[in-house]
Amino acid sequence: MIVVIRPNTPRPQIDEVIAEVQKLGYDPRPIFGTEQTVIAAIGDERTHHTLTSLTALPQVEKVIPVQKRHKLVSRESHSGDTTVDVDGLKVGANAPFCLMAGPCSVESEEQLISTARAVKAAGATILRGGAFKPRTSPYEFQGLGSEGLRLLSLAKKETGLKIITEVLSERHVDEVASHTDILQIGARNSQNFQLLIECAKTGKPILLKRGLSQKIEEWLLGAEYLLAHGNNKVMFCERGIRTFETYTRNTLDLAAVAIAKKESHLPVIVDPSQGCGRADLVRMLCKGSVAMGADGLLIEVHPHPAEALSDGQQQVDFVGFQQLVKDLQPLLGAMGRA
Ligand code: E4P
Ligand code: PEP
Repeated sequence: MIVVIRPNTPRPQIDEVIAEVQKLGYDPRPIFGTEQTVIAAIGDERTHHTLTSLTALPQVEKVIPVQKRHKLVSRESHSGDTTVDVDGLKVGANAPFCLMAGPCSVESEEQLISTARAVKAAGATILRGGAFKPRTSPYEFQGLGSEGLRLLSLAKKETGLKIITEVLSERHVDEVASHTDILQIGARNSQNFQLLIECAKTGKPILLKRGLSQKIEEWLLGAEYLLAHGNNKVMFCERGIRTFETYTRNTLDLAAVAIAKKESHLPVIVDPSQGCGRADLVRMLCKGSVAMGADGLLIEVHPHPAEALSDGQQQVDFVGFQQLVKDLQPLLGAMGRA
């Protein structure tokens, strides 16, 4: 059940409802939104008292039984579209279309700062770059780690771009959070529930990638962990799934974008670079993503893709990125997202 509190209710009255929910035998999980506060009441509704009596309290707007397993993520509990505030930059259906771009891996100061300047000039507002890299082989470049984080902070200082970078382990959550505006939870960790909980606790915006072979319901429930632990600044990221197809590295599932938008109130971002693993297809997939209603894109850009230390085959160069952004404009205009 979801208990919806009336807008502008003072904190002590919200606490009163929380205490009532607890008294009725439920575990209250409040989410303090900018527009509205809701309390998810977790418990077995067959054996507990019904919470509908709470509507007698003046500060309670309504109590909604939520049928979906992804209760807080679902549009049943929040009918509007959530806007995520990324250090002052708004992301979501009611905000300008969001371009996140940058190298797969942070490799050097020169590489990162030149890329940050190039993507900013082309229209990106968020710089991506992996400092801790999840590599299939232990012998391949694992990222610069802490030094990579330092360079990301430097890039933010130099350009004003917001930062998104992946957090691989619970051990690194605080360190990564202190250098980034968005914590990226990668495909390989999308069901690492302890990591999700630790990330949620930071209160930072989180971009949750879809797992390598993850069903949409599992992806929605991954986000549910984040909301159930008090963090509603969550964005989904479709990045392709494993199929039998070998022309592409992954199969970008654009239907999942439409489904995530329909099922949930959270912003949906698409990563076409991981989604196909081919630089020559990125531009087309960006267009498809915009047409499908995505709220933003996460695109890999490198000054010299052929020399990249990871994923060179799917990164576009500066000119390619500039052209891609230009090509998207008519479509963004047609979708009302220019
Ligand atoms: C890059 O971002 C990832 O670490 C990479 O896609 C993992 O792939 P690989 O290690 O199999 O190349
Ligand atoms: C990445 O974006 O750097 C990355 C590793 O992506 P994914 O988790 O989607 O493979």
